[in-house]
Amino acid sequence: MRLSPLHYLSHHWLSLTGVILVTAATVFWLFLLPASLAGDAHPYLGILSHLILPALFFLGLGLIPIGIRLARRRPDPPRADWGRLLRLVGLATAANMVLASQFTFRAVSYMDSNGFCGLACHSVMKPEYTSHARGAHSKVECVRCHIGPGAEHFFKAKLSGVRQLASLAKGSYHRPIPAPPANLRAANEICQTCHSGTLSGERIKVLDRFESNEANTRSRHVLLMKVARIHEVHGKMGTSCLECHNRPSHTFDTAANAMDWALAGGTIPVRLKSAKARGVELLTASYPTQDAGAAAVRDAWLRHYPGEAGSADAVVSIYRGNIFPEMKIGWGTYPNHLGHTASPGCFRCHDGQKSVNGRTVSQDCNACHQLLAMDEVEPKILSDLGLAGN
Ligand code: HEC
Ligand code: HEC
Ligand code: HEC
Ligand code: HEC
Ligand code: HEC
Repeated sequence: MRLSPLHYLSHHWLSLTGVILVTAATVFWLFLLPASLAGDAHPYLGILSHLILPALFFLGLGLIPIGIRLARRRPDPPRADWGRLLRLVGLATAANMVLASQFTFRAVSYMDSNGFCGLACHSVMKPEYTSHARGAHSKVECVRCHIGPGAEHFFKAKLSGVRQLASLAKGSYHRPIPAPPANLRAANEICQTCHSGTLSGERIKVLDRFESNEANTRSRHVLLMKVARIHEVHGKMGTSCLECHNRPSHTFDTAANAMDWALAGGTIPVRLKSAKARGVELLTASYPTQDAGAAAVRDAWLRHYPGEAGSADAVVSIYRGNIFPEMKIGWGTYPNHLGHTASPGCFRCHDGQKSVNGRTVSQDCNACHQLLAMDEVEPKILSDLGLAGN
């Protein structure tokens, strides 16, 4: 009597392993399907569902006929045991459902989490991790901007990860890490997944500045930023978002600017004599390590302003957010191009001399913003706009 090959399916461990692999791969794949179909799937999901699972599926499929053939070679051809096969498939599927739902998402979301990138293996990236956590993109995972979607990007990133690990072990990595880093995704790919609409309107910006004198005299700039105009003109020119927003997630400040924010926000009281000047002086001195710097800044501050623990915390927090001696990051290491006071920024091109297509790139003070007030103690425009209290 000739038996159909399927009769031998349940009678060799190889074909049974094959069955388990095929069901496991199918169940896991189905679980991942909704996430991998969502347009901007995580890169790690891509590798699982596009590479690993299909590989397991076909491996299982290959094992089944091998097992069947081996079982057939046995002297006493076994009887088909369909019940056993069904029980096995049922059991494997149920177990895989539980495993798939619990394990996959946790593992993947952990590997994608900012903690993993910024801390677990990338202690070198403390500066970027810190600045990211303080910024507007703190909820956006590192991999969104740094690793593209899909298997190809994943391999590229892991490959360079291995290289980075080697240099980490040898201690030969760059300090500071060069910007922009090699794996950064193209700007329009990154930014426009979230910021897809046209940026419209104009925006009032009030900047409080404090003089380096005993009274910390405050003056204010009021700018009407021409957000729509800036993006429209540069959008037509095809300028990359990163040409201006080069530090979207890792903004390091200047000492003076950071002190101004703290004074304006009240975490450092304006009544403390010469607070602005003293803060800038302490913050810009050089220290061997971040911890040593933070301790020295706190001690000196408390010596000048006894009992001022709250404002000491504020100055130390500015220090820890911006200065990383271990990575050779100090004030100005990573300049921000979005402006022209702390670094040349817009004026790299808008210097009133460079010409593009026969036209001089304008330095007209009202092209990018309208200067509603500059260096005024109580700008009248703010009371006109009903914003004077701010
Ligand atoms: C919103 C997008 C975005 C996110 C989210 C993001 N980065 Fe970046 N990152 C950038 C850009 C853009 C640069 C390039 C900066 C430049 O060219 O000046 C950069 C640069 C870097 C650099 C190179 C050194 C430097 O400071 O320029 C490192 C390292 C880095 N990022 C790590 C991280 C880590 C770790 C996280 C998560 C904790 C993260 N990034 C999250 C956009 C992002
Ligand atoms: C995953 C979504 C996401 C991506 C990708 C993303 N952003 Fe954002 N962006 C946000 C969110 C959320 C905010 C916060 C909005 C708010 O605070 O109202 C934000 C805020 C901003 C702001 C205003 C706040 C600030 O920092 O002053 C700018 C500018 C900005 N993003 C630029 C960029 C650029 C440039 C890129 C590409 C490198 C980018 N974003 C990529 C989600 C994203
Ligand atoms: C030519 C320089 C330049 C380019 C190129 C540019 N931006 Fe901007 N963007 C600015 C300036 C300047 C502001 C206003 C900053 C402020 O108000 O402090 C701004 C503001 C923004 C804001 C905040 C808007 C708001 O009202 O708060 C977002 C979001 C943003 N840009 C995203 C993008 C994205 C995405 C791209 C790429 C498609 C891009 N920008 C390209 C200069 C630029
Ligand atoms: C890489 C060079 C470059 C950089 C950097 C740059 N721009 Fe431009 N920008 C240009 C060129 C070129 C033009 C077109 C000049 C023209 O046709 O008048 C232009 C035009 C503009 C215009 C329209 C001017 C008008 O006459 O109405 C605005 C607004 C503008 N840029 C804003 C900005 C801002 C804000 C920044 C910095 C955040 C910036 N640009 C950085 C090259 C640059
Ligand atoms: C090419 C666009 C552009 C031109 C031209 C330009 N600015 Fe600006 N300016 C900016 C941007 C962008 C900022 C940053 C706003 C912010 O803080 O987000 C800025 C900020 C400022 C500030 C606030 C600085 C601070 O204290 O942080 C002042 C003051 C200022 N500009 C004055 C001028 C004057 C004066 C001129 C003419 C010589 C001029 N700007 C020309 C784009 C421009």
